[in-house]
Amino acid sequence: MIEKDFIPGPSGDLPDAGTFSWKAPSNIALVKYWGKLAGQIPTNPSVSFTLDTSATRTTLICEKTMDPGEFPHFSIYLDGAPAPHFSEKIRTFFERILPYQPFLSEYAFEIRTENTFPHSSGIASSASGMAALSLCLMDLELKIYPDMSTEFFHHKASFLARLGSGSAARSIKGGVVQWGEHDAVPGSSNLYGISYPFEVHPVFESFQDTILLVDKGKKEVSSTVGHALMQGHPFAKSRFDQARKHIDQLRPVFREGDLNAFMALVESEALSLHAMMMSSNPYFILMKPGTLEIIERIWEYRRRTGHAVCFTLDAGANVHLLYPGENKETIQAFLKEELVSFCQDGHYLLDRVGPGASRL
Ligand code: DP6
Repeated sequence: MIEKDFIPGPSGDLPDAGTFSWKAPSNIALVKYWGKLAGQIPTNPSVSFTLDTSATRTTLICEKTMDPGEFPHFSIYLDGAPAPHFSEKIRTFFERILPYQPFLSEYAFEIRTENTFPHSSGIASSASGMAALSLCLMDLELKIYPDMSTEFFHHKASFLARLGSGSAARSIKGGVVQWGEHDAVPGSSNLYGISYPFEVHPVFESFQDTILLVDKGKKEVSSTVGHALMQGHPFAKSRFDQARKHIDQLRPVFREGDLNAFMALVESEALSLHAMMMSSNPYFILMKPGTLEIIERIWEYRRRTGHAVCFTLDAGANVHLLYPGENKETIQAFLKEELVSFCQDGHYLLDRVGPGASRL
C-alpha cells in the first residue's frame, strides 16, 4: 500500500457521537530504529517483540461539533486528571494525521488514557499511547467507512501511530513485528508495521522481557533529538547497512530457534545504538554505571552457567533482560540475587511477548 491509499474518499453521514476504547502494548526493538527522514520515515527497518503487560488503555469520546474549525478540539486526561503537558504532542499528532482523516475536524474529542506501568518508571509510553489512540481513531473511521477490511484497519492504525511516534507503528500486532522496508521481507513497508512474515520458532513465543529500572528519571536526550543526530553522522551509512544485514540474519535465527545467534545479534544491536549516541555531534551517553554492571553480570552468568539470557537497551539506562519462558525460574533467581541491587529502589517490571492490541 502507498501513502495515498490512506486518504479516504468522500464520506457519507458522519455519526453524531461515539466512544471507543483500546488497549495497546509497548514493544521492545531487537533491531533498532535510530534515524528518520521527513514524514516519520525510518532510515532502516526495525524488528520488535510486542510486549504483554506494559500497555496503555485509552478511551476516546467523540462528539460532532456545532462549530467545526480547521483543527479538531480535544482535551486529554491521564489517570482521570487533566494532562495539559500532553497537549502539544497530541496537537502535533492531529496535525500530521488530518490529511488522512479529514473528518476529524468535525469533532471535539475527549481522550482518557492510563498506563499499566508506573509514571515514574522511565518507561516511554509514547509507543503504546500513540497506538491505542490511533486504534480508537480507526474505530471512528470504521463507523464512517464500514466496508474497510480488517487488514486495512490494522495497517492504517499502524500508519497513524507511526506519525505520532515511529516505534508506535510496531505496537498494533502481537508477537514479532517489522516496520520498515527490506527487499528480502515481503510486505514490509516504511509506512506501517507488519506481522513478521517468516517462521518463528516456538521458543520465542514465550520469551520473557524483564525491564530493570536502572534510572527512573526523564531521559536527558529525547529519541527525537537522537534520531536527528543520525543526519550527517559519520557512521550513519554503516549503521543502516548493519541493521539491514541483521534483519537478513534474523530469518534463520527465528526459524531454527538459534538462541546463541539471537543473543549475539540482539546485544550487538543494543550496543551499536548506544555507540551511535556516543559518536554523534554532540555526543552523549545514556547508560549509567548500573547499566554496565548489569551487562557484565549477565555475561559472567552466561559464561558460568551456559543459560540463555541476554540484554537489550532502548534510548536510556534501563536494561531489558530477554530469556526463554522455560528458563523463567532460574533467570529470575539470578536476577534477584545479582541484578536487583543495581535497579533504582530495587524496581523491575516482569513482561513477556504478547498478543498485540485489543478492543476493550
Ligand atoms: C531507541 O519511536 O521514540 O527505542 O519516532 O521520534 O517518536 P520518535 O522516536 P521513538 O524512537 C525509538 C527509538 C528506540 C529504538 C526502537 O524502538 O526501535
